[in-house]
Amino acid sequence: MGPINNYNMHKSILILGACGQIGTELTLALRERYGNQQVIASDIREGSAQLMASGPFEMLDATNYGALEDVVMHYEIEEVYLMAAMLSATAEKFPMRAWNLNMNSLFNVLNLAKDKKIGKVFWPSSIAVFGPNTPKENTPQHTIMEPSTVYGVSKQSGERWCDYYHKKFGVDVRSIRYPGLISWKTAPGGGTTDFAVDIYIQAIKEGKYSCFVSEETRLPMMYMDDAIRATLAIMDADAEQIRVRSSYNLAAMSFSPADMAASIREHIPGFSIDYEPDFRQAIADSWPSSIDDSEAQKDWGWSPEFDLEKTTREMLTNLK
Ligand SMILES: NC(=O)c1ccc[n+]([C@@H]2O[C@H](COP(=O)([O-])OP(=O)(O)OC[C@H]3O[C@@H](n4cnc5c(N)ncnc54)[C@H](O)[C@@H]3O)[C@@H](O)[C@H]2O)c1
Repeated sequence: MGPINNYNMHKSILILGACGQIGTELTLALRERYGNQQVIASDIREGSAQLMASGPFEMLDATNYGALEDVVMHYEIEEVYLMAAMLSATAEKFPMRAWNLNMNSLFNVLNLAKDKKIGKVFWPSSIAVFGPNTPKENTPQHTIMEPSTVYGVSKQSGERWCDYYHKKFGVDVRSIRYPGLISWKTAPGGGTTDFAVDIYIQAIKEGKYSCFVSEETRLPMMYMDDAIRATLAIMDADAEQIRVRSSYNLAAMSFSPADMAASIREHIPGFSIDYEPDFRQAIADSWPSSIDDSEAQKDWGWSPEFDLEKTTREMLTNLK
Protein backbone atom coordinates (compact mmCIF):
# COMPACT_ATOMS: atom_id res chain seq x y z
CA MET A 1 0.00 0.00 0.00
CA GLY A 2 1.41 3.39 -0.97
CA PRO A 3 1.30 6.50 1.20
CA ILE A 4 -2.24 7.89 1.52
CA ASN A 5 -1.02 11.42 1.92
CA ASN A 6 2.13 13.43 1.68
CA TYR A 7 2.53 13.85 5.44
CA ASN A 8 4.71 11.58 7.57
CA MET A 9 2.28 9.12 9.20
CA HIS A 10 4.80 8.01 11.81
CA LYS A 11 6.09 11.24 13.25
CA SER A 12 5.79 11.85 16.99
CA ILE A 13 3.92 14.90 18.14
CA LEU A 14 3.74 16.59 21.56
CA ILE A 15 0.92 18.92 22.62
CA LEU A 16 1.54 21.22 25.58
CA GLY A 17 -1.64 22.44 27.31
CA ALA A 18 -3.56 19.59 25.64
CA CYS A 19 -6.46 19.64 28.11
CA GLY A 20 -7.71 23.13 27.24
CA GLN A 21 -10.44 24.32 24.90
CA ILE A 22 -8.34 24.00 21.73
CA GLY A 23 -5.80 21.41 22.89
CA THR A 24 -8.46 18.77 23.56
CA GLU A 25 -9.91 18.87 20.04
CA LEU A 26 -6.51 19.34 18.42
CA THR A 27 -5.15 16.25 20.20
CA LEU A 28 -8.13 14.15 19.11
CA ALA A 29 -7.79 15.40 15.51
CA LEU A 30 -4.04 14.70 15.41
CA ARG A 31 -4.56 11.23 16.92
CA GLU A 32 -7.15 10.40 14.30
CA ARG A 33 -4.70 11.37 11.61
CA TYR A 34 -1.34 10.08 12.92
CA GLY A 35 -2.43 7.32 15.30
CA ASN A 36 -3.11 7.47 19.05
CA GLN A 37 0.37 6.38 20.15
CA GLN A 38 2.12 8.97 17.97
CA VAL A 39 0.48 11.96 19.64
CA ILE A 40 1.50 12.71 23.24
CA ALA A 41 -0.87 14.92 25.20
CA SER A 42 0.51 16.90 28.15
CA ASP A 43 -0.75 19.46 30.65
CA ILE A 44 -0.46 20.37 34.33
CA ARG A 45 -3.89 18.82 34.94
CA GLU A 46 -5.84 15.87 33.60
CA GLY A 47 -8.25 16.41 30.74
CA SER A 48 -11.64 15.02 29.74
CA ALA A 49 -12.28 11.28 30.00
CA GLN A 50 -12.37 11.04 26.20
CA LEU A 51 -8.99 12.73 25.88
CA MET A 52 -7.34 10.75 28.68
CA ALA A 53 -8.57 7.43 27.26
CA SER A 54 -7.48 8.16 23.71
CA GLY A 55 -3.67 7.92 24.03
CA PRO A 56 -0.49 8.74 26.01
CA PHE A 57 -0.55 11.57 28.55
CA GLU A 58 2.29 13.23 30.46
CA MET A 59 1.91 15.59 33.42
CA LEU A 60 4.22 18.35 32.20
CA ASP A 61 4.78 22.02 33.03
CA ALA A 62 5.67 23.78 29.76
CA THR A 63 7.78 26.34 31.65
CA ASN A 64 10.08 23.58 32.99
CA TYR A 65 12.76 23.23 30.27
CA GLY A 66 14.41 20.13 31.76
CA ALA A 67 11.15 18.21 32.12
CA LEU A 68 10.08 19.25 28.63
CA GLU A 69 13.37 18.16 27.10
CA ASP A 70 13.08 14.76 28.87
CA VAL A 71 9.64 14.14 27.33
CA VAL A 72 10.85 15.29 23.89
CA MET A 73 13.84 12.92 24.05
CA HIS A 74 11.88 10.00 25.51
CA TYR A 75 9.24 10.01 22.76
CA GLU A 76 11.59 11.24 20.00
CA ILE A 77 9.24 14.16 19.38
CA GLU A 78 9.44 15.89 15.99
CA GLU A 79 6.63 18.45 16.26
CA VAL A 80 5.39 20.50 19.22
CA TYR A 81 2.06 22.32 19.47
CA LEU A 82 2.30 24.85 22.32
CA MET A 83 -1.27 25.47 23.52
CA ALA A 84 -0.47 26.28 27.17
CA ALA A 85 -1.08 29.95 28.00
CA MET A 86 -2.91 32.28 30.32
CA LEU A 87 -5.78 33.91 28.40
CA SER A 88 -6.84 37.55 28.17
CA ALA A 89 -9.31 37.99 31.05
CA THR A 90 -7.31 35.92 33.57
CA ALA A 91 -4.03 37.57 32.54
CA GLU A 92 -5.38 40.99 33.56
CA LYS A 93 -5.69 39.58 37.10
CA PHE A 94 -2.26 37.90 37.21
CA PRO A 95 0.00 39.94 34.89
CA MET A 96 3.39 38.55 35.92
CA ARG A 97 2.20 34.95 36.01
CA ALA A 98 0.73 35.42 32.54
CA TRP A 99 3.93 36.95 31.19
CA ASN A 100 6.08 34.20 32.71
CA LEU A 101 3.90 31.36 31.43
CA ASN A 102 3.25 32.78 27.97
CA MET A 103 6.86 33.79 27.29
CA ASN A 104 8.90 31.08 29.05
CA SER A 105 6.94 28.22 27.52
CA LEU A 106 7.52 29.77 24.08
CA PHE A 107 11.27 30.26 24.65
CA ASN A 108 11.56 26.64 25.81
CA VAL A 109 9.98 25.35 22.62
CA LEU A 110 11.80 27.76 20.30
CA ASN A 111 15.13 26.84 21.91
CA LEU A 112 14.45 23.11 21.47
CA ALA A 113 13.89 23.83 17.76
CA LYS A 114 16.96 26.07 17.53
CA ASP A 115 19.05 23.21 18.99
CA LYS A 116 17.47 20.81 16.44
CA LYS A 117 15.88 18.66 19.16
CA ILE A 118 12.53 19.15 17.43
CA GLY A 119 11.80 19.99 13.80
CA LYS A 120 8.61 22.04 13.72
CA VAL A 121 6.60 24.24 16.09
CA PHE A 122 3.00 25.46 16.17
CA TRP A 123 2.30 28.39 18.49
CA PRO A 124 -1.00 30.29 18.46
CA SER A 125 -1.24 34.04 18.57
CA SER A 126 -4.48 36.01 18.86
CA ILE A 127 -6.45 39.02 17.63
CA ALA A 128 -5.35 40.44 21.01
CA VAL A 129 -2.07 41.51 19.36
CA PHE A 130 -4.05 44.46 17.97
CA GLY A 131 -4.98 47.47 20.04
CA PRO A 132 -7.15 50.58 20.18
CA ASN A 133 -5.12 52.36 17.44
CA THR A 134 -5.44 49.48 14.96
CA PRO A 135 -7.97 49.93 12.10
CA LYS A 136 -11.04 48.13 13.46
CA GLU A 137 -12.67 46.91 10.25
CA ASN A 138 -10.96 44.43 7.96
CA THR A 139 -7.79 44.72 10.03
CA PRO A 140 -4.83 44.10 7.70
CA GLN A 141 -2.04 41.57 8.25
CA HIS A 142 0.51 44.39 8.63
CA THR A 143 -0.79 47.40 10.56
CA ILE A 144 -0.46 49.38 13.79
CA MET A 145 -0.14 46.97 16.71
CA GLU A 146 -0.24 48.55 20.14
CA PRO A 147 -1.94 45.97 22.38
CA SER A 148 -3.35 47.34 25.63
CA THR A 149 -3.72 44.06 27.54
CA VAL A 150 -1.14 41.89 29.32
CA TYR A 151 -2.19 38.97 27.13
CA GLY A 152 -1.90 41.03 23.94
CA VAL A 153 1.55 42.29 24.91
CA SER A 154 2.70 38.70 25.49
CA LYS A 155 1.27 37.53 22.14
CA GLN A 156 2.77 40.47 20.25
CA SER A 157 6.19 39.82 21.86
CA GLY A 158 5.83 36.11 21.10
CA GLU A 159 5.19 36.88 17.43
CA ARG A 160 8.36 38.97 17.22
CA TRP A 161 10.39 36.15 18.81
CA CYS A 162 8.93 33.56 16.41
CA ASP A 163 9.90 35.74 13.46
CA TYR A 164 13.36 36.31 14.96
CA TYR A 165 14.03 32.61 15.58
CA HIS A 166 12.95 31.83 12.02
CA LYS A 167 15.16 34.47 10.42
CA LYS A 168 18.16 34.07 12.71
CA PHE A 169 18.19 30.31 13.38
CA GLY A 170 15.98 28.87 10.62
CA VAL A 171 13.41 27.59 13.13
CA ASP A 172 10.28 26.26 11.37
CA VAL A 173 7.66 27.92 13.55
CA ARG A 174 4.12 28.50 12.27
CA SER A 175 1.42 30.60 13.84
CA ILE A 176 -2.17 31.80 13.49
CA ARG A 177 -3.90 34.74 15.14
CA TYR A 178 -7.01 32.87 16.27
CA PRO A 179 -10.18 34.91 16.67
CA GLY A 180 -12.62 34.04 19.50
CA LEU A 181 -13.25 30.30 19.33
CA ILE A 182 -16.63 28.64 19.78
CA SER A 183 -16.84 24.97 20.77
CA TRP A 184 -18.91 22.57 22.87
CA LYS A 185 -16.47 19.77 23.86
CA THR A 186 -14.32 21.65 26.38
CA ALA A 187 -15.12 24.78 28.38
CA PRO A 188 -13.22 27.95 27.43
CA GLY A 189 -10.34 28.95 29.70
CA GLY A 190 -10.74 32.59 30.78
CA GLY A 191 -10.78 34.60 27.56
CA THR A 192 -12.80 37.68 26.63
CA THR A 193 -14.86 35.79 24.03
CA ASP A 194 -16.02 33.11 26.53
CA PHE A 195 -19.51 34.66 26.33
CA ALA A 196 -19.88 33.28 22.81
CA VAL A 197 -19.81 29.75 24.26
CA ASP A 198 -21.70 30.46 27.53
CA ILE A 199 -24.59 32.02 25.63
CA TYR A 200 -25.44 28.66 24.00
CA ILE A 201 -25.05 26.72 27.26
CA GLN A 202 -27.34 29.12 29.14
CA ALA A 203 -29.83 29.31 26.25
CA ILE A 204 -30.39 25.56 26.58
CA LYS A 205 -30.26 25.44 30.40
CA GLU A 206 -32.14 28.61 31.38
CA GLY A 207 -33.58 30.09 28.19
CA LYS A 208 -31.82 33.34 29.07
CA TYR A 209 -28.34 34.83 29.34
CA SER A 210 -26.68 37.78 31.04
CA CYS A 211 -23.82 38.92 28.81
CA PHE A 212 -20.60 40.53 30.11
CA VAL A 213 -20.06 42.64 26.98
CA SER A 214 -22.56 45.07 25.45
CA GLU A 215 -25.04 44.12 22.76
CA GLU A 216 -23.27 45.88 19.88
CA THR A 217 -19.76 44.51 20.67
CA ARG A 218 -18.84 42.98 17.30
CA LEU A 219 -15.83 40.63 17.35
CA PRO A 220 -14.12 38.20 14.96
CA MET A 221 -15.14 34.61 15.79
CA MET A 222 -14.61 31.09 14.51
CA TYR A 223 -16.14 27.65 15.08
CA MET A 224 -13.62 25.16 16.51
CA ASP A 225 -13.76 22.79 13.52
CA ASP A 226 -12.50 25.62 11.31
CA ALA A 227 -9.74 26.49 13.81
CA ILE A 228 -8.54 22.88 13.90
CA ARG A 229 -8.63 22.64 10.11
CA ALA A 230 -6.60 25.85 9.83
CA THR A 231 -4.06 24.53 12.34
CA LEU A 232 -3.59 21.26 10.46
CA ALA A 233 -3.43 23.12 7.13
CA ILE A 234 -0.71 25.58 8.15
CA MET A 235 1.34 22.70 9.60
CA ASP A 236 0.87 20.62 6.42
CA ALA A 237 1.99 23.39 4.07
CA ASP A 238 5.46 23.32 2.52
CA ALA A 239 7.88 25.57 4.41
CA GLU A 240 8.23 27.92 1.40
CA GLN A 241 4.48 28.58 1.44
CA ILE A 242 4.69 30.03 4.94
CA ARG A 243 5.87 33.53 4.15
CA VAL A 244 4.62 35.14 7.36
CA ARG A 245 6.69 33.84 10.29
CA SER A 246 5.23 36.09 12.96
CA SER A 247 1.57 35.00 12.76
CA TYR A 248 -1.21 34.92 10.15
CA ASN A 249 -4.48 36.82 10.38
CA LEU A 250 -7.29 34.27 10.25
CA ALA A 251 -11.02 34.95 9.88
CA ALA A 252 -14.34 33.21 9.50
CA MET A 253 -17.13 35.53 10.71
CA SER A 254 -17.83 38.59 12.86
CA PHE A 255 -20.87 39.22 15.01
CA SER A 256 -22.21 40.82 18.20
CA PRO A 257 -24.06 39.23 21.14
CA ALA A 258 -27.27 40.70 19.66
CA ASP A 259 -26.59 38.85 16.39
CA MET A 260 -26.02 35.66 18.39
CA ALA A 261 -29.26 36.13 20.33
CA ALA A 262 -31.20 36.55 17.06
CA SER A 263 -29.58 33.41 15.68
CA ILE A 264 -30.46 31.42 18.84
CA ARG A 265 -34.09 32.65 18.69
CA GLU A 266 -34.46 30.89 15.33
CA HIS A 267 -34.24 27.66 17.39
CA ILE A 268 -35.36 28.80 20.87
CA PRO A 269 -37.97 31.53 20.21
CA GLY A 270 -38.34 32.54 23.89
CA PHE A 271 -34.60 33.11 24.46
CA SER A 272 -33.87 36.40 26.25
CA ILE A 273 -30.62 38.26 26.87
CA ASP A 274 -29.55 41.21 29.00
CA TYR A 275 -26.23 43.01 29.20
CA GLU A 276 -24.05 43.70 32.22
CA PRO A 277 -20.63 44.71 30.84
CA ASP A 278 -17.71 44.18 33.24
CA PHE A 279 -13.91 44.68 32.92
CA ARG A 280 -13.90 42.50 29.82
CA GLN A 281 -15.76 45.21 27.85
CA ALA A 282 -12.61 47.35 27.73
CA ILE A 283 -10.59 44.38 26.44
CA ALA A 284 -13.18 43.66 23.72
CA ASP A 285 -13.31 47.36 22.77
CA SER A 286 -9.54 47.36 22.13
CA TRP A 287 -9.81 44.52 19.58
CA PRO A 288 -10.76 44.54 15.87
CA SER A 289 -14.32 43.91 14.68
CA SER A 290 -13.30 42.09 11.53
CA ILE A 291 -10.08 40.65 10.10
CA ASP A 292 -8.54 40.59 6.62
CA ASP A 293 -7.06 37.12 6.21
CA SER A 294 -6.18 37.31 2.52
CA GLU A 295 -2.52 36.39 3.17
CA ALA A 296 -3.55 33.07 4.77
CA GLN A 297 -5.91 32.42 1.84
CA LYS A 298 -3.17 33.16 -0.68
CA ASP A 299 -0.19 31.47 1.04
CA TRP A 300 -1.69 28.19 2.29
CA GLY A 301 -5.21 28.08 0.89
CA TRP A 302 -7.25 29.03 3.95
CA SER A 303 -11.04 29.17 3.61
CA PRO A 304 -13.60 28.87 6.46
CA GLU A 305 -16.67 26.61 6.39
CA PHE A 306 -18.75 27.79 9.35
CA ASP A 307 -20.89 30.96 9.50
CA LEU A 308 -23.04 32.04 12.48
CA GLU A 309 -26.10 30.10 11.37
CA LYS A 310 -24.16 26.84 10.99
CA THR A 311 -22.30 27.45 14.27
CA THR A 312 -25.57 27.98 16.16
CA ARG A 313 -27.03 24.79 14.73
CA GLU A 314 -23.94 22.76 15.68
CA MET A 315 -23.69 24.24 19.18
CA LEU A 316 -27.36 23.78 20.11
CA THR A 317 -27.52 20.25 18.67
CA ASN A 318 -24.35 19.04 20.39
CA LEU A 319 -24.92 20.76 23.75
CA LYS A 320 -28.42 19.24 24.02
N1 LIG B 1 -9.78 29.94 22.87
C1 LIG B 1 -9.67 31.05 22.16
O1 LIG B 1 -10.69 31.68 21.80
C2 LIG B 1 -8.30 31.55 21.72
C3 LIG B 1 -8.24 32.65 20.87
C4 LIG B 1 -6.99 33.12 20.47
C5 LIG B 1 -5.84 32.46 20.88
N2 LIG B 1 -5.92 31.38 21.71
C6 LIG B 1 -4.66 30.74 22.12
O2 LIG B 1 -4.70 29.34 21.91
C7 LIG B 1 -3.96 28.65 22.94
C8 LIG B 1 -4.86 27.62 23.62
O3 LIG B 1 -5.98 28.31 24.14
P1 LIG B 1 -7.18 27.57 24.87
O4 LIG B 1 -8.39 28.38 24.62
O5 LIG B 1 -7.19 26.14 24.56
O6 LIG B 1 -6.74 27.81 26.39
P2 LIG B 1 -7.23 27.01 27.71
O7 LIG B 1 -7.06 27.94 28.85
O8 LIG B 1 -8.55 26.39 27.46
O9 LIG B 1 -6.14 25.86 27.79
C9 LIG B 1 -4.81 26.09 28.18
C10 LIG B 1 -4.29 24.83 28.83
O10 LIG B 1 -2.94 25.07 29.25
C11 LIG B 1 -2.74 24.43 30.49
N3 LIG B 1 -1.62 25.02 31.20
C12 LIG B 1 -1.58 26.12 31.98
N4 LIG B 1 -0.35 26.33 32.46
C13 LIG B 1 0.42 25.32 31.97
C14 LIG B 1 1.79 24.98 32.11
N5 LIG B 1 2.62 25.71 32.88
N6 LIG B 1 2.24 23.90 31.46
C15 LIG B 1 1.42 23.13 30.71
N7 LIG B 1 0.12 23.41 30.54
C16 LIG B 1 -0.38 24.49 31.17
C17 LIG B 1 -4.05 24.58 31.23
O11 LIG B 1 -4.19 23.62 32.25
C18 LIG B 1 -5.07 24.41 30.08
O12 LIG B 1 -5.48 23.07 29.96
C19 LIG B 1 -3.44 29.75 23.86
O13 LIG B 1 -2.15 30.13 23.46
C20 LIG B 1 -4.39 30.90 23.61
O14 LIG B 1 -3.78 32.11 23.88
C21 LIG B 1 -7.13 30.92 22.14
